[in-house]
Amino acid sequence: MQIETARLLLRRWKPSDSKPFHQLNSDPEVMEFLLKPLALEESDEMIVRIESHFEQHGFGLWAVEAKETGLLLGFAGLSRPTFETQFTPCIEVGWRLARQAWGRGFATEAARAALAFGFDEAGLTEIVSFTVPANLRSIAVMERIGMTRDIAGDFEHPKVPENHHLRKHVLYRLRREEFQI
Ligand SMILES: CC(C)(COP(=O)(O)OP(=O)(O)OC[C@H]1O[C@@H](n2cnc3c(N)ncnc32)[C@H](O)[C@@H]1OP(=O)(O)O)[C@@H](O)C(=O)NCCC(=O)NCCS
Repeated sequence: MQIETARLLLRRWKPSDSKPFHQLNSDPEVMEFLLKPLALEESDEMIVRIESHFEQHGFGLWAVEAKETGLLLGFAGLSRPTFETQFTPCIEVGWRLARQAWGRGFATEAARAALAFGFDEAGLTEIVSFTVPANLRSIAVMERIGMTRDIAGDFEHPKVPENHHLRKHVLYRLRREEFQI
């Protein structure tokens, strides 16, 4: 199962994604608001985890490919967080693109397609997203796709060490009836 948008292909992962995915996962700028750049082995393990999520749930973080060039740009899609907090269980929409793919609206285009899949195909009634307050680019994507901040939803990410500067997160929500392509 894959999704096509005007400029992108959202598809399942293949072995040749390993190298370009590691390239972006080891870029300090891409990983600024995530805990740390990933080694090749960690990046490959992430692909395995993503693929098993697809098997389990029927959706996941799709590999995002540029139709024009066939290059892997990163990922975007839906995932079920594995930690527990006040708003879980839930489904999250997320994205991560190589630095050279920023600034062209690709994350927004891919995220809209993922939301459409989640609401129309997977039957979800709400999708959330979260990040650290300093990740303004990610928050801008959330706002462009129509998500609204839940002020009462601020939380300390249980997977980030206590007192770490990336622990505090903001929560955005979107309900099916609020979603417009
Ligand atoms: C978060 C991330 C995907 C956002 O990327 P982005 O390029 O800022 O977002 P978009 O792809 O939606 O592009 C929007 C930009 O493209 C511009 N743009 C150009 N053509 C566009 C189009 N057709 N449609 C929409 N925007 C377009 C917009 O004006 C905007 O530019 P601006 O940032 O100068 O205001 C990217 O910064 C990233 O991968 N970060 C690292 C990983 C990460 O932090 N992920 C989130 C963890 S919670």
